[in-house]
Amino acid sequence: MSAAIRIRQVGKQYGNVRALDGVDFEIRQGEFFGLLGPNGAGKSTLINIIAGLTRADEGRVTVMGHNVVSAYRRARQSIGVVPQELVFDPFFTVREVLRIQSGYFGLGRENDAWIDELLSELHLEDKADTNMRALSGGMKRRVLIAQALVHKPAVVVLDEPTAGVDIKIRNLLWAFIQGLHERGQTIVLTTHYLEEAESMCERIAILNHGRVVAIDTKQQLLNSHLARSFTVSLTCKHTVRGIPDALAGKVTVHQDNRLEMQLDKETDTIIGVLDLLREAGIEVVDVHTERADLEDVFLKLTYGSDNVL
Ligand SMILES: Nc1ncnc2c1ncn2[C@@H]1O[C@H](COP(=O)(O)OP(=O)(O)O)[C@@H](O)[C@H]1O
Ligand SMILES: [Mg+2]
Repeated sequence: MSAAIRIRQVGKQYGNVRALDGVDFEIRQGEFFGLLGPNGAGKSTLINIIAGLTRADEGRVTVMGHNVVSAYRRARQSIGVVPQELVFDPFFTVREVLRIQSGYFGLGRENDAWIDELLSELHLEDKADTNMRALSGGMKRRVLIAQALVHKPAVVVLDEPTAGVDIKIRNLLWAFIQGLHERGQTIVLTTHYLEEAESMCERIAILNHGRVVAIDTKQQLLNSHLARSFTVSLTCKHTVRGIPDALAGKVTVHQDNRLEMQLDKETDTIIGVLDLLREAGIEVVDVHTERADLEDVFLKLTYGSDNVL
C-alpha cells in the first residue's frame, strides 16, 4: 500500500454550492503535498471529509487504507488535523488540552514524555500550565499543532497553519513541519501563501470551484502551463524610436528606453533578439529575465473565477 490518502470521485453539495465536484487523487506516503486554491475553492471541505468531520455526498476516501466513514476510528488514528479555525475550551491549560486529546486516542500518562517533547519543539514548554484563554493567536496555533500530533499519526494535515501568524512564528512552524517531513511523516498542507507551497511541497494540487484543475510537481506545473513564452525586460542606452519589423507585436516600450518582450520559448532566443536590436541601432545596456513562478500558474488556472484570493 503506497497511498497515504486516497480520494475517489468525491462530491459535496451545500445548498446551491457545489463545494467539491468529482475530486479524485492520491497522496503518497512520506509526501509533502500542497493543496492550493483561492478562498471558497473547497480546500477545507476536502480536509474535513478526509478527517471524517464532514461526510461526502459521493465518492470515498481512505487514510492509510482505512475508509473514513466505515472504518472511522482507524482512519482517525492515522491522521492528525490542524484545523483552520482556532477552537478551544478556554478553561483548560495547554497540558490538559494535550492530555485530553491523548485520552481520546486511548493514551494515558505514558504519553506525557511525548507531550513534553512536542511542547519543547514548538517552544511552548513555559506555557504548559497556562490556560488556553491566556495564549496569543500564534501560541494557540502551536497548541493546535501539538494536539494534532499527540497520537503520532502517520499523516498530518494542516489547513492554513500560518494564516494570521507573524513571520517569526511562521518560520518556527515551517522549520518544525519540515522536520516532521524529514522524519518520514506524510504532510498535507493547504495555504494561499504560494511562496510557502513553492518552497516546501513536492507535489501540488490546485483546486478551483471544487475541482482539481492541476496536480503535479512544481516543476511540471511550471513546464506544462508556462512553457510557451517567457518575459524579458531590456534597458536601452537611448530612447527607442522604432522597433525592428521582426520583433513587431512582441515588444512593449516603457519609459522611452525600457522594453518588455514576450518571447516564444520554442522559436526565440535572447541572443537573437539582441542581434536584431543591435542591427536596428538599439544598444541594450541591461537584460532581465522574469522567472515564471507558481503564482503565474495559479493565476492562470484560477483566472476568471469569481473567487477572492
Ligand atoms: N458548512 C457549510 N455550509 C454551507 N456552505 C459551506 C459550508 N462549508 C463550506 N461551504 C461553502 O463551500 C465552498 C467551499 O468552502 P471551503 O471548503 O471552506 O473553501 P476553502 O477552504 O478553499 O476556502 C464555499 O462556497 C463555502 O461557502
Ligand atoms: Mg479553508
